[in-house]
Amino acid sequence: MLPAAKAASLPRLTAVDPARDTFRHPAAAPHEPLRTFHPRRVGLGPVRQDALRRLFPGLGFSVHDEAAPFPRTPDGMLDAAAMFGRTAPLVLEIGPGMGEATVAMAAADPGRDVLAVEAHLPGVANLLKLLDEAGTGNVRVGHGDALDLVRRALAPDSLAEVRAFFPDPWPKARHHKRRLVQSAHVALLRSRLVVGGLLRTATDWPDYADQMLEVLSSDPGLEPAPGAGAGRPVTAFERKALAEGRTARDLVFRRVR
Ligand SMILES: C[S@@+](CC[C@H](N)C(=O)[O-])C[C@H]1O[C@@H](n2cnc3c(N)ncnc32)[C@H](O)[C@@H]1O
Repeated sequence: MLPAAKAASLPRLTAVDPARDTFRHPAAAPHEPLRTFHPRRVGLGPVRQDALRRLFPGLGFSVHDEAAPFPRTPDGMLDAAAMFGRTAPLVLEIGPGMGEATVAMAAADPGRDVLAVEAHLPGVANLLKLLDEAGTGNVRVGHGDALDLVRRALAPDSLAEVRAFFPDPWPKARHHKRRLVQSAHVALLRSRLVVGGLLRTATDWPDYADQMLEVLSSDPGLEPAPGAGAGRPVTAFERKALAEGRTARDLVFRRVR
């Protein structure tokens, strides 16, 4: 559990309302941009509902829902110092899933703060629960589309690292435009990294790994950083892939200009 004094010092945010989990299939919301995650509506069991109710107000925020906002600087950007109560290098994780690896990495790296942004509410709830159980204080959990947050509220040169481990592969060719790792998204993420910051991805889909390598290598501001950021724990999704006989490929690039 988080120490009471620490929990009390966190900014109070309105609880997220599962009934307002508004991401829908694009067909149901024609003006929404193409999302990089699978549209899913999954019910929340009592344990996750309880985690959301208790923990979201202190440790969570919504990307889209003004009822559960994040602190902002006067120019409207996310105010990480206010959110974490300190100034420290900031890591963005896109799509932590159920969050096991997120908690392990953050606990092993207490000098940095982590914004973990997940589109699906069950993952948000589970990550909150794991953070509470581990007493890990350097993670805040965003619900929504991380790319929207990056576009609208993360300042250029503000991130020490961006992580996207096992983003949905969108294997059908007609869905490739939904892939997270594509040149426009990579250019956006690179612009938010500090020079010297890392962009870390991994996938178990050989075809997606090849595309990732091509896209990342073609970005004029990135260079490969093999070996950097080594020591990543196995993620939940990766564990499944390994059990099914697939292998993971990590691609790590550094912003150089
Ligand atoms: C295949 S899962 C992998 C989860 C976790 N990284 C792991 O390795 O176990 C991909 C996750 O990324 C999330 N995701 C994809 N695009 C996202 C986005 N733009 N913003 C937030 N979450 C996203 C999905 O909801 C999903 O939970």
